[in-house]
Amino acid sequence: MSDSPTATLEAPQSGVGAELLSRIEARTACVGTIGLGYVGLPLSVEFATAGLSVIGFDLAADKVSSLNRGESYVSDVASSRLKPLVDSGKVKATTDFALLAKCDAIVICVPTPLGKTKDPDLSMVVDATDAIAARLRPGQLVVLESTTYPGTTEELILPRLEARGLRVGEEFFLAFSPERVDPGNPRFNTRNTPKIIGGMTPRCAAVARSLYRRAVDTVIPVSSPQAAEMVKLLENTFRSVNIALVNEVALMCDRLGVDVWEVIDAAASKPFGFMPFYPGPGLGGHCIPIDPFYLSWKLKTLNYRARFIELAGEVNSEMPEYVCDRVADALNERERSVKGSRVLVLGIAYKRDVEDVRESPALDILRLLESRGARVSYNDPFVPSLSLDGHTLQSQELMPAVRDADVVVIVTDHSGYRYEQIVEEAQLVLDTRNATRGIASPKVLKL
Ligand SMILES: NC(=O)c1ccc[n+]([C@@H]2O[C@H](COP(=O)([O-])OP(=O)(O)OC[C@H]3O[C@@H](n4cnc5c(N)ncnc54)[C@H](O)[C@@H]3O)[C@@H](O)[C@H]2O)c1
Repeated sequence: MSDSPTATLEAPQSGVGAELLSRIEARTACVGTIGLGYVGLPLSVEFATAGLSVIGFDLAADKVSSLNRGESYVSDVASSRLKPLVDSGKVKATTDFALLAKCDAIVICVPTPLGKTKDPDLSMVVDATDAIAARLRPGQLVVLESTTYPGTTEELILPRLEARGLRVGEEFFLAFSPERVDPGNPRFNTRNTPKIIGGMTPRCAAVARSLYRRAVDTVIPVSSPQAAEMVKLLENTFRSVNIALVNEVALMCDRLGVDVWEVIDAAASKPFGFMPFYPGPGLGGHCIPIDPFYLSWKLKTLNYRARFIELAGEVNSEMPEYVCDRVADALNERERSVKGSRVLVLGIAYKRDVEDVRESPALDILRLLESRGARVSYNDPFVPSLSLDGHTLQSQELMPAVRDADVVVIVTDHSGYRYEQIVEEAQLVLDTRNATRGIASPKVLKL
């Protein structure tokens, strides 16, 4: 794919910028990655595979030790891939931020959650930036990858780095490049997912593009960090809004007595102008339930109400409650109350075949059912135990738990489940993911 026509790039021809560029191109540059989680670890491995030396920084000493033993804790990175890179010295991890001074390029991949009032919590980005600023030297490139609101790189990061007295685009280089990783996706990974970059100056863009070109097949520059920040939020808002639309369609279909899954499958046969999204028990993960609120927060400061984002957030966040109502109705049909009934939740992770439970709707469903007096339990092959509001739940052995439950709720459709057998042995199944498609049984209720 060609470079965006709006982006201007200017490779530094002399000075520290030219030296940095030649080190990157010769693959003798050292890359620092701050935050070794779902984003930072795969990226570190990709840079190291491309031949660059990588130092990973994290506050979590257990992650650092695990990584230095060559043991991956992120399912998308196989230990068999990590270990040789560690053994050959291409990747090392540390909690010692003094080593940032050694790095030619530093990529920030720390979490950007929401605070209790749903306002952006950029404290970890600020901490990481301050750690860099304290050691910033001429000839370094800094890239922010954490998802954030448009303006963060320019308004929050740049002043902190410039406070060192170095000039951006001349003595140091700054860019934003959103991470697009889709954990568990067998087809798209860090390497073959096109990477957007927005440089603070045309030179920053040229240096950042050169770095990512070592590790990523396609790099697409846009005109500014703000545009790159907005790209990521458009992508995630697009998903949130479309999922909300289809969740509402599911509620409509329920009232109409129409099978929403049949409707979507049939609509998806249209070869243009339609893209299927699927309803579910609610949004989960670190991105889709959170990122759009970064955008709406920013727009609030500009006296603009992001109506689609708010409405989508409302519809999606009501889905766990809807699932619980469906459980209650199904039990009621069988002259049972929720109180005292045994409810087994299948799948706790926020999506299929991953171990990540952050923001998972299953957690809300467990809480809501428990507050209505149900005796809840769960099974998830990826999540052996779970801490929920101060108590710990253990994943139950699958088939005995299925047989024992008054109702089984399929919340996450892991591919390892044998749904036919589950339906056969369960008393009642509420399937929120259409995992039981093709299984005709009066015991199965669908979203
Ligand atoms: N997980 C995804 O699928 C995904 C996809 C695209 C974008 N993102 C974005 O990428 C960013 C990182 O997400 P993640 O899923 O990798 O998070 P994560 O929680 O898996 O990893 C973040 C790591 O940063 C470390 N950390 C926190 N503060 C630190 C500090 N000051 N210095 C050094 N390390 C620190 C944590 O210990 C943790 O290991 C977020 O902004 C997220 O929205 C995530």
